[in-house]
Amino acid sequence: MSEVTSALTGRERTFPEDEIIVSKTDPKGRLTYVNDVFLKVSDYAESECIGQPHSMIRHPDMPRCVFKLLWDTISSGREIFAYVNNRAKNGDNYWVFAHVTPNFGPSGEIVGYHSSRRAPRADALAKIKPLYETLLRTERAAADRKQGQDAAYKHLTDLLTQTGKSYGEFVFDL
Ligand SMILES: Cc1cc2nc3c(=O)[nH]c(=O)nc-3n(C[C@H](O)[C@H](O)[C@H](O)COP(=O)(O)O)c2cc1C
Repeated sequence: MSEVTSALTGRERTFPEDEIIVSKTDPKGRLTYVNDVFLKVSDYAESECIGQPHSMIRHPDMPRCVFKLLWDTISSGREIFAYVNNRAKNGDNYWVFAHVTPNFGPSGEIVGYHSSRRAPRADALAKIKPLYETLLRTERAAADRKQGQDAAYKHLTDLLTQTGKSYGEFVFDL
């Protein structure tokens, strides 16, 4: 068991429906801004976050393929909505529904990214959790990390093809 996994508490945190967790990053995903709600829910101090990779709040049960989809989308200049399970400093977890967008400079280049997150609807989460569990199982069953991510990514894109929806439509129809 990894250090991070052993530190998980198994306790889930929630945050009020009318609050928004905000963070901004540079083009490499290093934190440049976090709001007070981010700090309260994740349990970190601002000084512990700025300059750190956003993966500092990564939860080990999040499938890699979701982050691949996130990065493929935002680095090509598009927005994405996604459900993400995060890890607070003390090992609690908290689910969010995130909207992540690129920020553009004067000549159209990506100068950073912005994420705003709301508390997810319970009925949508009830559908996302089994999907993510399947994706994670697929990733862990593979011979190596890359093969696992590719297989799970294919599972996700096949599911979208079957439902005839884009990823954006899929998450909003949950
Ligand atoms: C603006 C922005 C917000 C992000 N928000 C999160 C987040 O809330 N939780 C998370 O685990 N990763 C988030 N990521 C993705 C991380 O950069 C990273 O890809 C992910 O944590 C997986 O880390 P790993 O590739 O080191 O395993 C965000 C990235 C960007 C650009």
